Amino acid sequence: MSRGFCRARANIALAKYWGKCDAALNLPAVPSVSLTLDALVTETEVQIDPSLEEDQVWLNGVPQEGAGRAKVSALLASVRGRPEARRGFARVTTQNHFPSASGLASSASGFAALTGAAARAYEVPLSLEAMSSIARRGSASAARSVFEGWCALPAGTPGDDWLPARPLYGVDHWEVCMVLALVTHAPKAIASRDGMRETARTSPYWGAWLGCAPGYVKAVTEGVAARDLEATGAAMEASTAAMHASAWAAVPAVRYIKGVTLELLDAVQSLRAAGVGAWATMDAGPHVKVLCLAHDSARVSTALAAVPGVVEVRVARPGRGLEFA
Ligand code: DP6
Repeated sequence: MSRGFCRARANIALAKYWGKCDAALNLPAVPSVSLTLDALVTETEVQIDPSLEEDQVWLNGVPQEGAGRAKVSALLASVRGRPEARRGFARVTTQNHFPSASGLASSASGFAALTGAAARAYEVPLSLEAMSSIARRGSASAARSVFEGWCALPAGTPGDDWLPARPLYGVDHWEVCMVLALVTHAPKAIASRDGMRETARTSPYWGAWLGCAPGYVKAVTEGVAARDLEATGAAMEASTAAMHASAWAAVPAVRYIKGVTLELLDAVQSLRAAGVGAWATMDAGPHVKVLCLAHDSARVSTALAAVPGVVEVRVARPGRGLEFA
């Protein structure tokens, strides 16, 4: 029996990916920029077992069926379909050391770790770039979790399955933190994939989002290059607001934020008014993630934890890419 292990960390987009230009190949319609985070870890083992008649998938000790298992199996098939690969179905065991599928990017770390573990188990010598492109098929944000620190994922070209993320800077580039204010441990109501599809299909602001997303990427990239927190943070907030506004205008509305999300945004504004550089973003869930300088993280955490409805606050630093032991 051949086995492979891989550890990956989730990433949070500073300039958001929202929408696809090719749903079958899972290619993003817009570019994005992200930060991989040390505090959001997924560990996956892939064990080939000749006695299996189909892939088995366990997530945090719970066997997975239906669409969840099918997505994992499709990724395994794309690795073992290579001529040099070992054959056989596999048992996939994944531990998410943070809430799954609730808007904390567990699919990013999950598909990145799965790709790394599958490459090891099936003994396919893939470059990190190739792993990034394969992980993207599972979840586009997963392409960015293959690499450490700051990453860019370009928009795709319909029909072209080769699209890896590009590493920009390593973990030591900039002493920042992302402070994560969790408002629930429950799974999110609308999967990001469905939210994106409905935004593209019914939102009058879909075209506007496509038009403005590349500008946020440019501004975030320049801000990160210059280690300019205000420029980076302001562009991140603008990207976040535009993404959520385009989704909210879908019919019926695709809305991820809750009342406590707005209270947290007010708390971030109050921090800024008090002279603390703190900037907020949200993904396909109600949590708020706050970018700040590392030396301000305690003050930011205290302010976020004081907002009624916050169930947990975690401080994350820039994190490493794939690890195989
Ligand atoms: C709001 O990567 O989860 O977090 O490719 O359909 O699996 P699929 O979507 P996914 O979407 C992430 C959306 C986001 C923004 C981002 O991470 O860029």
